[in-house]
Amino acid sequence: MEDKRPFWTSKYSFIITTIGSAVGLGNIWRFPYIMGQYGGAIFLAVYILLISTICFVPLMNELYIGKLTKKECVGAYEAISPKFKYLGALNPITGVLIAAFYFIVGGWIINYICKSFTCNQITDYGKYFTEYIQNPIYPCILTILFLFICIFFTARGVKKGIEAANKVLMPLLAVILIFLVIVSLNLPNANQGLEYMFKPDFSKLNSKMILAALGQAFFTLSIGMGALLTYGSYIKEDKSLVKSVYTIILSDTIFALLAGIMIFPAVFSFSMEPNSGAGLVFVTLPKIFSQVPFGNFISFAFFILLFCAALTSGISIVEGPCATLTERFNISRTKACVILFCLISVFAIPATLSFGVLENFKIFNKSIFDFLDFLTSNIMLPLNTLFLCLISGWYLKLNGHDVIKNRVLALFFNIGLKYIVPVALICLMFMGLN
Ligand code: PHE
Repeated sequence: MEDKRPFWTSKYSFIITTIGSAVGLGNIWRFPYIMGQYGGAIFLAVYILLISTICFVPLMNELYIGKLTKKECVGAYEAISPKFKYLGALNPITGVLIAAFYFIVGGWIINYICKSFTCNQITDYGKYFTEYIQNPIYPCILTILFLFICIFFTARGVKKGIEAANKVLMPLLAVILIFLVIVSLNLPNANQGLEYMFKPDFSKLNSKMILAALGQAFFTLSIGMGALLTYGSYIKEDKSLVKSVYTIILSDTIFALLAGIMIFPAVFSFSMEPNSGAGLVFVTLPKIFSQVPFGNFISFAFFILLFCAALTSGISIVEGPCATLTERFNISRTKACVILFCLISVFAIPATLSFGVLENFKIFNKSIFDFLDFLTSNIMLPLNTLFLCLISGWYLKLNGHDVIKNRVLALFFNIGLKYIVPVALICLMFMGLN
């Protein structure tokens, strides 16, 4: 059994695993379709502005609180004040609920990997996708398989499992992504897709889109469920986090941009719609793959890419609750992972079935899958971040000048922590509720 409080073997390990957490379905599945729905380039411009400014504050804060307290979420909040213990517990709960819907998409990806070499037999991709997710058996099995793979790496421990997986999967992900970008850019009319991504139409600027960009930025950086806090708590050396934080933001943005550059030229080249929503990756792209030379191979590469991205993020989603269970209840990682496997399955299976047999079971008028997505992305993630910023800013009175050398950035951090981020998060939650 690995010792109770493991540490990253190097700064590189910390950065690559944190980038692994950040780069996930949020970048390759969610980012392109949300960008498609909010008008392309103008969304991208707002997104880059927000992710490089406002998001610095909660990202730095969450990692710093982990590094400072060297505890999992509940312990970290408790170390600040015992009265915050229960607020801390919201983080691992959020993790379990996010896992339940995130891993369903992981299961879909496994199915598409297996289907890659026979996908040209499909005639109607929309119908295929709908029928597949409505099936009561296969999606459940594959969701559980994906959960099992994530849990397997988490159970192996921070060094042998989490670090080792990220060190292989992240470079692989980068290589496949670059390969697919080159393929996409060589398609006829690829420049139309680039124009869509980089030529802003200012008439599409509105407050709803700005908040959607902010929500996407928080989600993609994995802020608000204690994954980063836990990863931060494994940092040994006492160096400033600023450079690491910017490396994480920059890398995550580059991955999202490359995902866009991979998808939009292909979409335009085949005269398809960029705003087809969540089906962009599972319906529109397979349709394109079936029409390009070596499409089977390209489809396989694409879904492997998506799988690597989902896996490294999935591992980080499980690690938060896993650390809480091991440290709070003094149990082994393996035991904690078995408990989590069962717990996540309890939520994930009904959520998987909510596309088919449980379709009529609604919570607040939403299917179980949509409800979990809504509850975690729109309420719990922003709420956890709000609590942590308020606790750091107003209770702990964390001073940016003590942790950040650059004076302007330190001042921005202080104002951000106390005012800008809380206000932005409250707006985000209100928008989510409407
Ligand atoms: N950042 C991940 C993604 O982009 C999702 C995630 C959210 C992971 C919250 C951990 C915590 O897919």
